Amino acid sequence: MKILVTGGLGFIGSHTVVELQNEGFEVIIIDDCSNSSEKVLEGIFSISGKMPLFEKIDLKEKSKVEDFFRRHQDVEGVIHFAASKAVGESVEKPLLYYENNIGTLVYLLKELSKKDNSNFIFSSSCTVYGQADEMPISEKAPVKPAESPYGNTKQMGEEIIRDTCAVNSSLNAIALRYFNPMGAHPSGNIGELPIGVPQNLVPFITQTGVGLRQELSVFGDDYPTEDGTCIRDYIYVVDLAKAHVQALQRLLGGKNEDNYEVFNLGTGKGSSVLEVIHSFEKVSGKKLNYKIVDRRAGDIVSAYADTKKANEVLGWKSQYTLDEAMKSAWEWEQKIRA
Ligand code: UD1
Repeated sequence: MKILVTGGLGFIGSHTVVELQNEGFEVIIIDDCSNSSEKVLEGIFSISGKMPLFEKIDLKEKSKVEDFFRRHQDVEGVIHFAASKAVGESVEKPLLYYENNIGTLVYLLKELSKKDNSNFIFSSSCTVYGQADEMPISEKAPVKPAESPYGNTKQMGEEIIRDTCAVNSSLNAIALRYFNPMGAHPSGNIGELPIGVPQNLVPFITQTGVGLRQELSVFGDDYPTEDGTCIRDYIYVVDLAKAHVQALQRLLGGKNEDNYEVFNLGTGKGSSVLEVIHSFEKVSGKKLNYKIVDRRAGDIVSAYADTKKANEVLGWKSQYTLDEAMKSAWEWEQKIRA
């Protein structure tokens, strides 16, 4: 069974490709390599022993998207990762984000709407909840006004899919709201490859650990939390990848209760920035150079998932602990700098 993975050379995409191949799916990747590299194909092959088909296509080119679906009428499902994801950049270049993240989604859904039956998984984010009023955050928590154009593209993306599903019963879709993905494949052959200075906590920590960055800035220790630093739900990328396979199987097996569904993907456990640093120090045996600085604009105090719906309805549960995920991130960082 052929599955299209857009953005399949990216961080979460590449791990999902491997899990799909492990379950016997034939994978075809579309990626424009704007934030990834064709070398990732070798990493995927070295793990699964199967080389995915690959087409370098920019999804903004509508005629190429149409042409792809004309040539691959046997695609049974689409997992759509391809998107821009830097919050700060989205504030500077909103139209780039709306074109990249929304325009391309519309083109894909138009193609899927032509089919008799289609299955679509969308990469969404817990950013849609903003600062939720209650922890843990369940799927019933209200969507709050977005803090950035990036966050808005996730909210709008979900709305576009929901509205399309409402008028097209042959389109089945699931939006997966990720908490904070981290780590690398246990083989050490694929992982996160941030371009330039990482914006996210874990790659910044591991790059500091190998000496690529001098010091980590901890953005504020005067938040109303136990140690004063912000709380997030760090989820191991392989666990996350497996959830995509399970969501796809739910659709392919016709087990979905509605043709548009939403699931949170997290561990259910919140960790503070200092706890993440301590986890790094524990698994690496190194002291991390860090200092406390001012809060980062737009940061929320706390976000961790209510995992009940994913556990009970999707039948998925994260397996790895923060320390295990951190160990994989650290091994990956050392390997790519060696
Ligand atoms: C960020 C984005 C979010 C996006 C997600 C995608 C912001 C405000 N939010 O989430 O919209 O969906 O990435 O991956 O950019 N931290 C430090 N020092 C650092 C980096 C981070 O102290 O150098 C802290 C942050 O203040 C935060 C935690 O580490 O408390 C996690 O930060 P990060 O990895 O950027 O993730 P989010 O802020 O949760």
